[in-house]
Amino acid sequence: MPNQKLLDALTAAEAAIAEAKRFASEIVPAPQPPLKAIGDIAKLYRRGLNLGDMLDAPAEGAWPAGKLAAADFDFALAAGFDHVRITARSHAYLDNGRIAESWLDRLAWACAQAQRVGLRAIFDPLHHADKEPFNGFAQPDLLAQLWHQLAARFKDLPGDWCFELVNEPKAPLDGKALNGYLAKALAAIRAHNPTRAVHVGAAINNTTDIPPHWKAPADSWTILQGHCYLPGPFSHQQESWAGNTPKRGWDGTDAEKAEIRAQLDKAPPRWPGPIHMGEFGCTTKADQASRLRYLRFMREEFERRGWGWTVWNIRGPFGLTEGGKFQPGVAAALGLE
Ligand code: BGC
Repeated sequence: MPNQKLLDALTAAEAAIAEAKRFASEIVPAPQPPLKAIGDIAKLYRRGLNLGDMLDAPAEGAWPAGKLAAADFDFALAAGFDHVRITARSHAYLDNGRIAESWLDRLAWACAQAQRVGLRAIFDPLHHADKEPFNGFAQPDLLAQLWHQLAARFKDLPGDWCFELVNEPKAPLDGKALNGYLAKALAAIRAHNPTRAVHVGAAINNTTDIPPHWKAPADSWTILQGHCYLPGPFSHQQESWAGNTPKRGWDGTDAEKAEIRAQLDKAPPRWPGPIHMGEFGCTTKADQASRLRYLRFMREEFERRGWGWTVWNIRGPFGLTEGGKFQPGVAAALGLE
């Protein structure tokens, strides 16, 4: 004989959980701020933290960074960052060519967490689009099509948040294919987000080495997003996805600094608008003294140029935290203390 009181209590508990879930995934519609110039929006993004390797893993939680948690947003705020970058593999959740609503709810939850603590965000929902089995760089029209859905669903994000169209373009999404994709994705976004700041990459792997064939999109609400991991054999040493190169240090010699400066110097003459460095960092496999020296130099270089930055990454192979706290020396290297 079922115990009616117990059944009633279970029903009430289920209803409360459903309501809590609904609330947790709700984006608070934010009024669009008065129209600002793109340069004013870019200036709001000075020091940021990538919340990567989680929503953009093949399945959330499948990689060492684990799952994205509400506490990650509290950490980012308390650490002194002014924004986060939310990277996600939405194309892993396709159902008949559309992103599953349950996944969009999960993204909305992440956005709501940033709003809860008062951080801005660069929202990059098609991170790792090049990876198999999706292979999105060979089907840019499908990528642009996904932006119709994403831009409609996320149009109520605060007016000074940014969308990001593609992480680290590379063949076959380069040259004309990249220009064509950016134009189509921007058109999809503009239908619902006329003045949304949008990050675009120009060069392979988002470097600042913009190729001669690059044509900037005819859209004044765009920010160039650069990434810099030079020298790769230092920042990615001993990592399987980067050729397992041998252990080495970074001493900050004039020659080492000159290599990085030369690449960063290439962007401004080719891109007159705002520039943001959306990724830089170094594997934890490097010795920590070299790593901290390198992080500080990179950060100071970006700031000297007036560029905002978002460091890679909160956890995982390039992780800067342990047990919810910065590793010793990281806050100082990032100028956050
Ligand atoms: C990728 C990460 C990788 C990092 C450094 C990012 O764009 O998403 O998986 O660890 O670059 O290579």
